[in-house]
Formats: sequence, C-alpha cells, structure tokens
Amino acid sequence: METITIGLLGLGTVGKGVVTLLQKQAAKIARTQDFRFKLKSVAVHNRTRHQNDDLPAGTILTEKVTDVVDDPEIQIVIEAMGTIEPAKVAICQAILNGKSIISANKDLLATAGEEILRLAKTAKVDFFYEASVAGGIPILRVLSSSLETDKISQITGIINGTANYVLTAMDREDRDYATALKNAQELGYAEADPTNDVQGIDATYKLIILSRFAFGQSLRLADIPRRGITKISPAQLASAKQFKMKIKLLAVAKEAGHQLYSLVGPAAIPAAEPLAHVNGVQNAIAVQSDALGETTYTGPGAGAAPTANSILSDLLATGDDIVKGDCGREFNNYRKPAAAQSLTTVPQRYLITVEEDRSLTNSNYPDLFQQQTVGPHYWSGLTSVISRDTLEKLLHTLEKNGAKVSYLPIANSWQPVPQE
Ligand code: NDP
Ligand code: HSE
Repeated sequence: METITIGLLGLGTVGKGVVTLLQKQAAKIARTQDFRFKLKSVAVHNRTRHQNDDLPAGTILTEKVTDVVDDPEIQIVIEAMGTIEPAKVAICQAILNGKSIISANKDLLATAGEEILRLAKTAKVDFFYEASVAGGIPILRVLSSSLETDKISQITGIINGTANYVLTAMDREDRDYATALKNAQELGYAEADPTNDVQGIDATYKLIILSRFAFGQSLRLADIPRRGITKISPAQLASAKQFKMKIKLLAVAKEAGHQLYSLVGPAAIPAAEPLAHVNGVQNAIAVQSDALGETTYTGPGAGAAPTANSILSDLLATGDDIVKGDCGREFNNYRKPAAAQSLTTVPQRYLITVEEDRSLTNSNYPDLFQQQTVGPHYWSGLTSVISRDTLEKLLHTLEKNGAKVSYLPIANSWQPVPQE
C-alpha cells in the first residue's frame, strides 16, 4: 500500500481537528483506499503553545512554513493558517514545488483564488477547498458534480456559523450581542478577528466561491452589497417574531436573464421557509434549480470536527488522484459571463421597525404597510413590494420625528426585472 506524505500549515481549531480525525479514521482510510497518509510536519506560529498537543509519533513541529512547503518528500499541503498573507505565498511556493493543496481559506480563495487556481492547473496539481464554504456541508462537491447538469437560478445561504450562532442566542436566550459573540469565539467558530464574521465579509467571501460553482461567475467583493449583524436590535428580533419571522444573515445570488443579482445582509425569513429554522452554528444553503426545484443542504458551518471532515474528503480525493497519476483536475471548471447587479435595489418587501417614537402609526402609508404590530418599545410594519426610492422616502419621513428606524428585506420577496 502506497504511503502519501502530507504537511500541515496551522494547528488551531481546524488544524487540530484534522490531526485528530486523521488519527481516528486511519484504520478506515486504510481499509477503503489503496493508500495511507503520513503526517510528516506541522508549521505553527509559536511552537511553545503546542508542547502538549497530541501529534502522531515522529511528526515534526516547526515554526518555519518553508520546512513544509519546500520539503521534497511532502506531496500534499493542507493550509489551515488563515489570512491572505502569508498563506498565499506559502500555497504558491508549495504549488511551484509540485505539491497538491487543500485549503479552508475562503478569504484567500475569494480574493486571489483565480490566480492560484491557474497556477495549480499549470503545475498539474490538485487544489481542493471544500471546507472553505459552510464548514462541514459538502456543498461545493454537490454543485460541481451532483448538480453539474442542472441549471441553478438562485442560491440562498446561511453561511456564517458565528453570525447565526449570535443571532440565535440573542433571539432565543436573550443573550446580549457581546456575550453571544464571546461564546462563539470560545467555541472556535469565529475567525481570529471576528470582524469578518459579524460584518458579513466572511459570508461575502463564501458567496463569491459559491457563485463560481453555481453560476460560473466570479464576483468581486465590491460587486456584492453587504451589511453585517452588529446593529440588529432586540426590538427588531421581537418585531420579526410578531410577524412569525426570524432574522438571519443571508447570502443570496440570483440569476435573472444575463444578470447575477446578489446581496449579503440580515433579512427577515418567514417561518414557512426552511432557512428560518436553521439555528446556532448550523449553516444551510437552499438551491433553486430547474430539474430539482428547491433542495436545501444543512449542517454544521464551523468547528473543528465538521471542518476537518471536509478537509479529509478533499484529502481522499487528492490521494486517489496521486495514486492514479491524475492530478490537476479543476475542482470547478464552470465559467459563464454575467453582469453583477445589486439585489438591494430591486423592488421587494421590508420589515420596518421604529423605536423611540410610539406616536407614529402606519396611517400615513396605508398602501405600503400590509400589517403592523405594536410592542412595548417599538412598532413595526411589513411593507408591500416597494421600490428603493419609496423605501428611502418612507425612512426619511419616519426619521424626521426623531425615531430610530431600521429596515430588513424580507427573504425571497426580491423581484428583479430580467434585462437582456
Ligand atoms: P486559528 O486561529 O485557530 O489557527 C490558526 C493556526 O495557524 C494557528 O495554529 C497558528 O499558529 C497558525 N499560524 C498563523 N500564522 C502562521 C504563520 N505565519 N506561520 C505558521 N503558522 C501560522 O484558525 P482556525 O483553525 O479557526 O482557521 C484556520 C483556517 O480555516 C482559516 O482560513 C479559517 O477561515 C478557516 N476555517 C475555519 C473554520 C472554523 O470553524 N474555525 C471553519 C472553516 C474554515 P499558533 O497556534 O502558533 O498561533
Ligand atoms: N468563522 C467562520 C464561521 C468559520 O463562523 O462561519 C467557518 O468558515
């Protein structure tokens, strides 16, 4: 049986999960594959932090990334360091040295992915990154293989575990925002700097990767309008509840004609939709496609074991290619031009919440509010489908009286007009 030698960059939440699962499943891998893995070296930032980590006997722990990426014996490098630099330099160096790559790094894949993937293709090495989107859900392989022959028209995802954990804790357990975020960090869900989680940047990176697989379209960060969850108030959560809705950080890409509309931000989801019931660190991706209709994929979106499982599935695929001498297949080779558009500017319905001025009612806007409700410190209303201009006039009028006004789009009320 062939032994494939691997190196690991990073031994944090994800790296430790990989080491644990590799050891736990070694016997099963040996039973089902024609090869076994040997973890030769692990690079970390600070070795003293890892004195008591449980590594397989003989594994080298180093502070030099080059000990891994320049080692001629290592055939596969798993990158679990995060950030864009120095991960990009390390990956490029490993590719130039003929090593296949597995990465969980959505920041890097969304911003420099195309360039690195071209390099990998030229070098005829594998580059897989299932763990970069939705942690443990194998959504990229589903899109690139199972749904390859279908035509996808919309993807709606809850794809940041930290944000979903925070919103769920605020909604169900009345935990305040700061405590809920601290808990998500302690559980290993958040990024080293959680700004990307709560401001929607991490979900935007993941939507960029998803859109390449689903629509063949490479969106840029600037193409996707983005809002985070930092300003979601208890009154907004309560008013959503009054209308039997849940607030979730959504990432949406919707094809209409030759346009690809997108947004990332909090939205109110009616209870009838499956995504309204996705709680805590769970992620979900609802895919609308011609042949299948709507299919929803749910599972843990972050954490050591789920993420490690996605990395190990990439590892098996790469090991198989190495044994067959067939490396260099693209994970996704779908490309189709489309114009990027904002989903925030198309007509849609909104949940409006007004705090600090209970004298306001919907009486001035009978045609706009389909329903309204009054809570202890707020009132709120659901609009009909309105244009962006009408929304802005409405907000302006409500704010004139000094009230604090917030608005959220209602999921799936978006009505883009297809343009050819
Ligand atoms: P952590 O912050 O927990 O771990 C990062 C690891 O990388 C640490 O071991 C750190 O070393 C090491 N490291 C950082 N910089 C260097 C460097 N210059 N040289 C060598 N080692 C370095 O991150 P996570 O494990 O949470 O995340 C890793 C990656 O996986 C990120 O890209 C993240 O976005 C992605 N990801 C994370 C998920 C999760 O649930 N956490 C889920 C899916 C993807 P040291 O320990 O010495 O500081
Ligand atoms: N910080 C990310 C999240 C990790 O919370 O979803 C998984 O990509």
